[in-house]
Amino acid sequence: MESEYSGIIKIPGDLVYLKNPDESHCSLYYALASDSNLRYYSSDAPFRKVGKQTFVQYYLNQLMVPNENYLPFVVVDSETDEPVGQVHAGRLDRDNHNCMIGFEILTCYQRRGYGTDAVETLLDYLFFDLKLNRIGAEVYEFNTASRKVLENLGFVLEGTLSKWLFRGGKYWDKLLFGILASDWMNPDGHE
Ligand SMILES: CC(C)(COP(=O)(O)OP(=O)(O)OC[C@H]1O[C@@H](n2cnc3c(N)ncnc32)[C@H](O)[C@@H]1OP(=O)(O)O)[C@@H](O)C(=O)NCCC(=O)NCCS
Repeated sequence: MESEYSGIIKIPGDLVYLKNPDESHCSLYYALASDSNLRYYSSDAPFRKVGKQTFVQYYLNQLMVPNENYLPFVVVDSETDEPVGQVHAGRLDRDNHNCMIGFEILTCYQRRGYGTDAVETLLDYLFFDLKLNRIGAEVYEFNTASRKVLENLGFVLEGTLSKWLFRGGKYWDKLLFGILASDWMNPDGHE
């Protein structure tokens, strides 16, 4: 596997592989940012359509650029080489060996197993290659699909930020999930 800053990292999963975003993925990220269904589930802010030009600048200058604390990956279908979504490790704390992850699959590609495989592949990379000790994720309580992805992979519910989000005329909790390296590498608890 190439260095994490080489720009040509490619991490194989089963259904998908993960790779660093480049200029060619701007339209994927624009589609993700323009998908009101995705934004409903993954953003605190109400959906606002972003102009393409503004987005391209943001993408090239910030979103695409990996740094010490943020590692973005495009999720690509292994058979067709079609980009179907994104995953990332954010708030990467190298001193304490933890991070938070985020993940999105374009609405038209959902419910085919891509989300689970992409997150599983990301966790393998973060635990085995980057040697992290803990990974967290935050989801709103109404986000059934994300909760399933996390719970199926062994994340546990660690806490609740009560009434965090005001959406659709009511308040919703934000749930904090986490998983430790020891549980990922040894899921049955056997030595
Ligand atoms: C969460 C998300 C990535 C899942 O992607 P996906 O490719 O559809 O996931 P999978 O196909 O691997 O499905 C995982 C599980 O969720 C279930 N699921 C998927 N979409 C669902 C939906 N809309 N409603 C209920 N369950 C759903 C699947 O049936 C599967 O459950 P199972 O294991 O019991 O069979 C996708 O729904 C998404 O992008 N959501 C919006 C963004 C988001 O919420 N991100 C997380 C916060 S950062």
